[in-house]
Amino acid sequence: MEEKKRSSFTGKIGFVLAAAGSAVGLGNLWRFPYLAAKYGGGIFLLVYIILAVTFGFALMTAEIALGRKTGLSAIGAFRKLNKKWAFLGVLTSLVPMIIFPYYSVIGGWVTKYAVQYAAGGAEQAADPNFFNQYISQPFEPIFWFMLFIGITFVIVLLGVEKGIEKASKFMMPVLAVLSVVIAVFTVTMPGSWEGVLYYITPDFSKFSVTTVLAAVGQLFYSMSLAMGIMITYGSYMKKEVHIESSVHQIEICDTGFALIAGLMIVPAFYVFSGGNASEMNAGPGLMFQTLPQVFERMSGGIPWLGSLIGCIFFVLVFFAAMTSAISLMETIVSILCDKLKWSRVKSCILVGIGALVLGLPSCLGFSVWSEITFLGGMTILDFFDFLSNSVLMPIVAFLTCIFIGYVIGTKSISEEVGLNVKFKQEKLFTVMIKYVAPICLVAILVSSVLDGLGIFDI
Ligand code: PHE
Repeated sequence: MEEKKRSSFTGKIGFVLAAAGSAVGLGNLWRFPYLAAKYGGGIFLLVYIILAVTFGFALMTAEIALGRKTGLSAIGAFRKLNKKWAFLGVLTSLVPMIIFPYYSVIGGWVTKYAVQYAAGGAEQAADPNFFNQYISQPFEPIFWFMLFIGITFVIVLLGVEKGIEKASKFMMPVLAVLSVVIAVFTVTMPGSWEGVLYYITPDFSKFSVTTVLAAVGQLFYSMSLAMGIMITYGSYMKKEVHIESSVHQIEICDTGFALIAGLMIVPAFYVFSGGNASEMNAGPGLMFQTLPQVFERMSGGIPWLGSLIGCIFFVLVFFAAMTSAISLMETIVSILCDKLKWSRVKSCILVGIGALVLGLPSCLGFSVWSEITFLGGMTILDFFDFLSNSVLMPIVAFLTCIFIGYVIGTKSISEEVGLNVKFKQEKLFTVMIKYVAPICLVAILVSSVLDGLGIFDI
């Protein structure tokens, strides 16, 4: 049977923007600024940047090269290199399947907020009860959740080049411009300079092993590692594109955006809280409750200004979430196309319907099924999040390092990176994959499980 030619990104820019689109997501916005505010500002930023160019660099290079070498998504890539390790492909594939449905529920909340602000509803959104009232309704969140999946579906259906690459080439530059607009606005607000200093000045007294653990955990999630995404995107990368410099560019986009997100949020929260930036919260509470109040305050009582800031901000969050959701859906679609030899249309339909069915419980977990909780109070959505991010992902990343470091050997990956060009940081890559990353990943697994269970606090 004649093999169908695999789709590919047209060139380096398309690849880098799509991968950066995946990396830049909700994590950059609702967790990075919180961690920076909590763990000593500049010292956290420094630790994070050092980890990005070492640990993050090695893991991302490994995944992209694995995909390009085999020309397959996660499920086939491991099997092709070693049959006994096919199980790792299955385990990796589970991660996007768990995340995509609930990530789309959150994407639906973001869409609702963008529309709410566009319609001039800043004051209403700033009411501290607005968010809880909204998510506890049975029907409206389902509508926005379905809309979010619908948009993702259309983009993925259009394919790698005409859908994903085109969408990323449009959304990522707009995202960059909007975030600079908001950052300039917050930094120039009266009184915010002290908040900027709080964000960038290193507070060494807050440095400890926990700082490093928090930074590694955040980095690893932020770079979309251990989800099969980078393997899939790598499999669409042309052989003449340089992996090493692409990884550096993705790192710059992801870390740069995280730093700007901090600049957008930390000084604003600093002013809002009267100088208590270390009390900042994270996650949905920060994004959907605290920030709307901050925007209200920033607008100085001018209603249209509050709506404008909120609208720009939530459109930006929408693009960040959408490009990440696209990468999740594409990873699953690619797995079905590779494994079952299904067409893109058929795979997209199945994944779309599957995500709707599996995401529904996460949505209803805040309304009619709010009685259902796990492990001492986690909602259904939190439970899926815990399972994928705190348990499965560190295990997958650890096993991937062992697979590359000790089963197939780092040389076979270095060769792929060094096709047509010298692999400059090969030594760093080897040491990271064989020794440093596995140790860090075990530490992340232990600390994130304890954190999720409320035994340890990151
Ligand atoms: N890298 C994303 C972030 O920082 C995380 C993510 C990517 C989640 C892709 C899901 C899918 O938010």
